[in-house]
Amino acid sequence: MSATIAPPADAHASGPARETVRVALGERSYDILIGRGVSAEAGARAAALGARAVALVTDDTVADLHGEGVRARLEEAGLRCETITVPAGEGSKGYATLARVCDAILASRIERGDLVLALGGGVVGDLAGFAAAIVRRGVRFVQVPTTLLAQVDSSVGGKTGINSAHGKNLVGAFHQPSLVLADTALLDTLPARELRAGYAEVVKYGLIDDAAFFAWCEANGPAVLAGGPERERAVAHSCRSKAAIVARDEREEGDRALLNLGHTFGHALERLARYDPAILVHGEAVAAGLALAFRFSAYLGLCAPADAERVARHLAASGLPTTFGAFAGLAPDPERLLDAMAQDKKVVAGQLTFILARGIGASFVAKGVDVAAVRTFLARECAGEAPAPV
Ligand code: NAD
Ligand code: GLY
Repeated sequence: MSATIAPPADAHASGPARETVRVALGERSYDILIGRGVSAEAGARAAALGARAVALVTDDTVADLHGEGVRARLEEAGLRCETITVPAGEGSKGYATLARVCDAILASRIERGDLVLALGGGVVGDLAGFAAAIVRRGVRFVQVPTTLLAQVDSSVGGKTGINSAHGKNLVGAFHQPSLVLADTALLDTLPARELRAGYAEVVKYGLIDDAAFFAWCEANGPAVLAGGPERERAVAHSCRSKAAIVARDEREEGDRALLNLGHTFGHALERLARYDPAILVHGEAVAAGLALAFRFSAYLGLCAPADAERVARHLAASGLPTTFGAFAGLAPDPERLLDAMAQDKKVVAGQLTFILARGIGASFVAKGVDVAAVRTFLARECAGEAPAPV
C-alpha cells in the first residue's frame, strides 16, 4: 500500500530540505522550522526575538550530546546563556524539579524580554514550558525538541505542565512557545527505542482524520525510522496536522481532544507502570493505547474489526506494543486501570470520555462512555482474550 503526501515545500531546492509550518494563533502565532541543522539558527533567532539572555533548560543526557553546541550558537549571537540541567526521564516532571528550575531561571536574571529555551524531549519541553509560564507571570520560550515525539507533538501547541501523585499532566498551563526549531539531525543520537516510541505519535495523526497519511505510514514507516527524507516529511506532515487542530481549538474546548487518541488507555498504563522506563515509555503506552482504542471501538460495534487489526499490525511491524501482555513487569488489572482512567482530566461528571473511531482516519470524541462496557473490555484484554463485539 502506498500514498502520496505533500513533500517539504522546498524539496526541489538545492541544499537540505526544510520547511516552515505556521501555528496561526493571532498574536500568539509562531513558526516551526523543520529540517536538518535548523538548531544552528538558535542564537540568531533568539536575538531576533529581542532577547539578551537565555536560560537553556535541558536534561543530563541531552546536555552531554547537544548542550554545548546550542549554547555556543547562543553565545555567538551575543546572548548571555545559563544552562539548567535536570535528570533525564519522566521523574523530572514533578513539583521538586519545577521549583528548582524556576529558582534557577530567576537566579540567572532572566527578565520578561528574555527567553527560556527547552532543549530536549517532551519531559524537558513540558517542564521548561511550565516554568516559563509561571516565572515572572510568564516569560517567552523557545522549543528545540530532540526526540521524534517532541518534534511531532509535545513541542507544538503550548500544553505545558508536570505530573501529580493524582495523575499525569494534571498541573500545568497553556503557554505557547515563540518559536520551535525541529532539527531532525538531533535525532541521529536518539536510541532506537525512543525513535519507535515517537513514531506512535506520527501514526496517531493518520488515525485521527487522515487515512491517506496512515497508508503513507504503512508504506514508509521503515524509512521514517531509518532516517532520510521520509523522516523530515513525517515530522512536517505531523506538525501541519497538529498546527491545524491547535489553530482551531487552542484550549481543547472541542476538536483538540482528538489529539488524545489512545491516551486514556495510555496514561492509565503509564500510571500502573509507575512511569518506570524499564516497563514502558510514554510513546509505547500511546502505541498500545491506539491499538486498544481501535479494538474498543470495534468491541462497541463502531468500527470494523479489520480496521483495528490493521492498526495493530502496523504498530507491531514498527516494533511497538499493542497489548497489555507486551509489557514485561506490568500487572494489568481492570479495576486499577479504571481507577487510573477516572483521574484522567477528560472525566466530566463522573463519566468517561474516550476518543473512539468509526474507522481509520475517522476518530471522534465519545462522551459518557458506559463504564460497565469499559470494565468488561479491560477484563478480557487483561486476560489476553480477544474481546467479542457487544
Ligand atoms: P523524554 O523527554 O523523557 O525523552 C526520552 C529520552 O530520550 C530521555 O532519556 C532523554 O534524555 C533522551 N533524549 C532526548 N533527546 C535525545 C537525543 N537527541 N539523543 C539521545 N537521547 C535523547 O520523553 P519524550 O518521549 O520525548 O516525551 C514524553 C513526555 O512528553 C511525556 O511526559 C508526555 O506526557 C509529554 N507529552 C507532552 C505533550 C504536549 O502536548 N505537551 C504531547 C505529547 C507528550
Ligand atoms: N498532545 C495533546 C495535545 O497537544 O493536545
